[in-house]
Amino acid sequence: MLQERIPDLTKYVEPDRVRREVYTDPGIFELEMQRIHERVWIYCGHESQVPKAGDYYAVQIGRQPMLMVRGSDGKVHVLYNRCPHRGNMMCGDRKGNAGEFFRCSYHAWTFQHDGKLRSIPMMDSGYAGTPLNKESPELCMKPAPRVENYRGFVFSSLAKDGPSLKEFLGKAIVAFDDMCDRAPEGEVEIVPNCFRVIQHSNWKIFLENQLDALHPSVTHQSTGRAAHEVEKEIAKKTKKGEAPLSYHMLSAFATVTIDKWDNFQTLNYPYGHCILTGYMGLRPQDPDTLAYDKVMIKAYGRKRFEEIVSVNIHHVLIYPGLSVQSPLQQLRAVRPLGVDRTLTEIWHFRLKGAPEPIYRRSLAYYNLVNSPATLVNADDLENFWKCHQGLSSDGGDWVSFARHFGRDIEKDGMVETAPNCGTSEAPMRNQMKAWAEYMRG
Ligand code: FES
Ligand SMILES: [Fe+2]
Repeated sequence: MLQERIPDLTKYVEPDRVRREVYTDPGIFELEMQRIHERVWIYCGHESQVPKAGDYYAVQIGRQPMLMVRGSDGKVHVLYNRCPHRGNMMCGDRKGNAGEFFRCSYHAWTFQHDGKLRSIPMMDSGYAGTPLNKESPELCMKPAPRVENYRGFVFSSLAKDGPSLKEFLGKAIVAFDDMCDRAPEGEVEIVPNCFRVIQHSNWKIFLENQLDALHPSVTHQSTGRAAHEVEKEIAKKTKKGEAPLSYHMLSAFATVTIDKWDNFQTLNYPYGHCILTGYMGLRPQDPDTLAYDKVMIKAYGRKRFEEIVSVNIHHVLIYPGLSVQSPLQQLRAVRPLGVDRTLTEIWHFRLKGAPEPIYRRSLAYYNLVNSPATLVNADDLENFWKCHQGLSSDGGDWVSFARHFGRDIEKDGMVETAPNCGTSEAPMRNQMKAWAEYMRG
């Protein structure tokens, strides 16, 4: 029993350090699923994944297999992927179209797209006089208690009560505004497939890495250096002496020195959300960008266009399951599978109404940092696995988050890192603070 082993979990989290069991104890993992992932708003997917009635997409929320489905009413529903008869999963595929209704593959009970029972074969002869009540909600596919959609991004909470999606997201909502506003049509659409990576490490290790501005110049140095060499070679061969921008985005890992990373800033909000500002903020002047700028100015007017492109965000972390890089139109959804197994889905989006080369460019970068062929992701994955192994050992009891501790600036209910403290471990402290609050129950 967790209670016997760890009578007071709150003692495991201090402001600047946490106990290693927080990452490795299966009992703590189960409690996290109950108290965090199966309560708070979790990202299911983008509505463009299910454009037509009957389209569905399977998604894991905490330990629950769920379906995001487009109803005949046009609404996106989120249902438990379970048949009320004998418990068969309704859809075994990751995605598809259910047709006019869901039909269970076991005994052919059928359900509307919103989960309502439609028919049971030979209902009257089979069930007349039995306690089964056709009107009972127990004979419907169970819906998620709450579903909300913000600018096409669908979230669901498996708890009946709690803050609304907007309250929950707070300032982190900028992730979706920034991504959509950069589209001339004010909307994005999903690129139909994602990279799926199963990490052999605890889910929190991944999240802590997302806003860790110290690690790129160390972990990704070799990759950045190689990219820099290639960039120089390609540049030599071009007329203007410039390599495509995507190479620069990667070589920046090597050419930006550690002290420069301290120029960035992290903003840490309630519920564990954090924003890393700064980093590239590039305003390139190549013909593709200029063509895009023109379309944007036509759509929004110059003043609003300037506002949109000057939003300078590198990463928005929405605790506990999402990391968004809005200017690059990508997001990573984190699905814990076990205490030492974590699935990440890395999705890419297309800016509606933007010229094709802009899409090609961001797609190139998406592949460059995320594809199985890249070393960037592999560099991180190796660290995650090694962290989990080290934390499973008796080599020490604590994980330290003390970098720039005590220099944080608290104001308006949030914590800002002090100037020149961009590599602060404030985001990890903020995540663990939220974790402890959730786990208190
Ligand atoms: S388990 Fe679904 S119809 Fe029997
Ligand atoms: Fe990394």
